[in-house]
Formats: sequence, structure tokens, C-alpha cells
Amino acid sequence: MIDSRPGMALNVVMLGPPGAGKGTQAERYARTQSLPKISTGDILREAVHEHTPLGSAARETMDRGELVSDEVMIAIVGERLGRPDTSRGFVLDGFPRTVPQARALDGMMAGRGAVAIVDIVVPEDVLLRRLAARRICGDCGINAAIEWTTSCGQCGGALVHRTDDGDGVVRERLRVYLRQTKPIVEFYAGRPTFRAIDGNQPPDVVTAAMDAAIREASLVPAGPIKITPGAAL
Ligand code: AP5
Repeated sequence: MIDSRPGMALNVVMLGPPGAGKGTQAERYARTQSLPKISTGDILREAVHEHTPLGSAARETMDRGELVSDEVMIAIVGERLGRPDTSRGFVLDGFPRTVPQARALDGMMAGRGAVAIVDIVVPEDVLLRRLAARRICGDCGINAAIEWTTSCGQCGGALVHRTDDGDGVVRERLRVYLRQTKPIVEFYAGRPTFRAIDGNQPPDVVTAAMDAAIREASLVPAGPIKITPGAAL
């Protein structure tokens, strides 16, 4: 049974192929719930941008569309989930991505409450179109909004293609997704907190579906209790 008592942590994991909208929806959900959004792709891209040893080691792997090793990713996420800001919960985007990572996450979550797993489903032709069209800010790294034409609406940086969004690399990322990541959908599918949602809809509709899916999994504490006059408490 899922524990929905107020005060319980709201732990959310986003699954889905490249371009499904995990980052977009994780950001929205984390903001509305005042939770930290933990994106392993963002952590790695920041490390590349800052030329840290992790960034130097991960760059070529990411540019080929392959996965960084389980050992490195599990250590990064283990450290991040150990920080105090995750005590009320978190929204995890991009991890787990392999069955060993999913097993490691189960270990990290022992005694920390249930995890809602939301799988965003989008057809491949739509993913290819989205990733070909995507621009990000070359400085702060966020996805460009449709209305931004040449520069970032947040920091003014120039808009660029993500280095792994070229056609050949995107196809490799999709192959890697099917081979290494899709099996974790089966790993989670039997759990009561697993929900699949249709991601091939306008972003606001997907946001509402995600919110409903997590509520349905009874992870969001109900609003203020309504007291009916005369009812026994
Ligand atoms: P990561 O950054 O996680 O990339 P990804 O999984 O390929 O996902 P994307 O960021 O491409 O897509 P998304 O689903 O977040 O969609 P988004 O919201 O951006 O990982 C990058 C690399 O890092 C990996 O390839 C790997 O090398 C490494 N890595 C990361 N984590 C790892 C791990 N755990 N283990 C090993 N290696 C790891 O949306 C995409 C576009 O579509 C945007 O332009 C957006 O505006 C648009 N869009 C979103 N929603 C909609 C909608 N509903 N309708 C129309 N357009 C939409």
C-alpha cells in the first residue's frame, strides 16, 4: 500500500525516451510542488560545460549517444539524494536508465517512502521531430521556449543545438533507449505506483495527466480535510 499521510515524502521518477518531455514536465512538477528537480543529463552537461573531470570523462560518451557507466551514475545520484533538500521528496529525470540503476535506486529508497514512477509515452516520429527542432541556451542550458528566436529569455545566452541532437546521434540514443532503458519499464510496470501517460499532447495537457497520475497513485497528500457539520471526527 502507498502511504499518503501528510508529511510523507513525494518521490517521483520520470521515465520515457529521448524527447518524451521528461525534463519539461519534471521542471514544471518540481516547481509547483517546491521539490528539487534532479536531472542526470543536466548534471552531466553542467560538468562538461565547467570542464570538470566528470565532464571530460562523460563528454564523448554523451556525444556518441551512449550511456555513462552505471557505477558513475549511481554514485552521482546516491550523493545527490543524500542531500537534505530531498527529505520532502524529489523529481528524478534521466535516472534510472538501466536495470542495475533501477535496482540501486530501490536500495537508496529503502525507508524513504514510496516512489511514483511516471512513464511518458510518445511515438518515435514525434520524438525525432521534437529533437530536430530543439534549441537550448548555450550558457545556462535550458530548453528554449517557442517564443525565443535567437537568445535565451532567462539569461540572454545564444540559442544552440544540443550536441547530441544531430540526426545520427538521436537515432543512436533511441536505439540505446530501446536496448538498455525500455527494460526498466517492465521492471516497474507491476508496481502500484507505476503510471504510463500519453506524452503526445500539448505540454499543459501532459502536465495535467502527470499530476492526475501521481494523485491516483495516492502520493500527494489530500487537500485540507472538509469537516461536515455534525459528522463524527
Ligand atoms: P538526458 O539529458 O537525460 O537526455 P534524454 O533522456 O535523451 O532526454 P532529453 O533531454 O533529450 O528529452 P526529455 O525527455 O527530457 O524531453 P524535453 O523535455 O527536453 O541525457 C543525455 C545524455 O546523458 C544521455 O544520452 C547519456 O549519455 C547521459 N546520461 C544521462 N543520464 C544518464 C544515466 N542515468 N545513465 C547513463 N547515462 C546518462 O523535451 C524535448 C523537446 O520537446 C524540447 O524542445 C521541448 O520543448 C519539446 N517538448 C516537450 N514536451 C512537449 C510536448 N508535450 N509537445 C511538444 N513539444 C514538447
